[in-house]
Amino acid sequence: MAARKPSRRLDDRRLRILPTSGNGKPEAKVEARSRPPGASAEPRAAMRRHGRHMIGRTRPPGPLLPMIGTLMMPGRDPLAIFTRLARDYGDISYFRMSGERVFFVNNPEYVRQVLVTDGAKFTKSRALERARKLLGDGLLTSDAASHERKRPLVQPAFHRARIAEYGATMVDRAQALSEQWRHGEVIDVSKEMMRLTLAVAARTLFDLDLESKADAVGRALRKVLESFWLTLLPFSDVIEALPLPAVRASQRARAELDALIYEMMAERRADGLGHRRDVLSTLMLGERDSTASALSDQEVRDEVMTLLLAGHETTANALMWTWYLLSGCPDKAAEVYAEVDRVLSGHGPTAADVTSLPYTTKVVTEAMRLFPPAWTIGRRAKTACEIGGYHVPAGSLVFMSQWVMHRDARFYDRPDQFQPERWSQEFKASLPRYAYFPFGGGTRHCIGESFAWMELVLVVATIARRWQLRLLPGHPIVPQPLLTLRAKHGMRMTPLDRRRAFAAPN
Ligand code: HEM
Repeated sequence: MAARKPSRRLDDRRLRILPTSGNGKPEAKVEARSRPPGASAEPRAAMRRHGRHMIGRTRPPGPLLPMIGTLMMPGRDPLAIFTRLARDYGDISYFRMSGERVFFVNNPEYVRQVLVTDGAKFTKSRALERARKLLGDGLLTSDAASHERKRPLVQPAFHRARIAEYGATMVDRAQALSEQWRHGEVIDVSKEMMRLTLAVAARTLFDLDLESKADAVGRALRKVLESFWLTLLPFSDVIEALPLPAVRASQRARAELDALIYEMMAERRADGLGHRRDVLSTLMLGERDSTASALSDQEVRDEVMTLLLAGHETTANALMWTWYLLSGCPDKAAEVYAEVDRVLSGHGPTAADVTSLPYTTKVVTEAMRLFPPAWTIGRRAKTACEIGGYHVPAGSLVFMSQWVMHRDARFYDRPDQFQPERWSQEFKASLPRYAYFPFGGGTRHCIGESFAWMELVLVVATIARRWQLRLLPGHPIVPQPLLTLRAKHGMRMTPLDRRRAFAAPN
């Protein structure tokens, strides 16, 4: 089906009060703004309907009542909160949360401004500031100066040629994992994909066979991430000093992870570093450009922990949601099988095959549109700036959400439907740059993006050669926005061997 050009209608001409002019009086300006179909033509009318008011004339519209606690507290649904903010208040909205000023932006231009053009005016938001406790000062969490020094030290491990070398491991691990499946038995694809991507990360980044330890590491990571909301609470330092079971479990899990990493480093030292071509060796050897200085042991640990976490859970979730979507659309799954069978007749995929698998690539692109593993990005304004004509004071938090933007009807026809076909060259060319941003943007753009694309396509192709994955009837699907977008109840599915008849076992 030919993808339809996204409708970018400028159908909302309305009066907006802008920040005060030099004479102290507010300037009024008529401005054309686009809005999603279904959003109110008049946000003030929407605000009246929802019993809310403008907070101030220099603030964007938003809910009057402040939010207590954090977006990620248990029982809170940040996906629904962000979706409602965009629906009720448009491209930029404002609210207070635990004493913080919070702006939510849902316009590709504003996203570009925060991540790219004005990127230097922002620093990482609270979630990532707090994630330092776990990740240390790795690329994901580091401040601008430290980031500038370290990114060139890590970058060589992600050059195109190196990533192509990793392709064989991705295929090999996917094959090894799926060979353990039995036709008709029930598996949790969420756990399986975590095991797989962890094994790939361990082998490709650290040249270490971690698969046997993968369950223990997975459990430790899960514990750390599930209690991560504690870290985000206003008095988290006090809470973390209390002898609460959740706090203790989280601290134990962190210690386990640290031990694992230092063990890998020790093995490396005993083994000799020179002959290895993986990230850990690269970091430990201090391979560097002429301006950067080598990393200390602690810094290597921080980068390793960051890559382990950032690299495996995101990719695992993208794969899990891909299998879920394919299970619900047998016709799309059939197209994947047809492509895989045609392109890979008689051999497993290699890095060189990725460009010959365009439909499979569209499938994972569309899966990350509907279920973006990184569902939000947050920043804190270091200095005051202006977004969309509104004053953003220094210290404010600014959030954007891939979950909301990727389902915006201004850019995506039938946004809630899984339509891999929409990703034609013409559609991609017509899409505003930051209407799709699963990997972020600007200087803090995901360093592992090419790695992830290769892994996603190769893993789907390898598994689809042999298996069809069918969702267990009645299994509840609840997206769970933790640090990445998980499925709250896992993903219980039945692998069906494509070489056998497709009749589902009773
Ligand atoms: C589908 C898979 C992935 C998704 C959706 C994803 C998404 C993202 C996003 C959105 C950011 C930017 C965060 C921000 O601006 O605050 C990011 C940064 C990062 N990602 Fe990924 N990522 C994926 C896979 C990977 C892989 C495979 C690796 C490593 C092997 C990786 C390592 C990193 C690192 C180190 C950063 C920080 C980069 C920097 O600030 O210089 N990611 N990722």
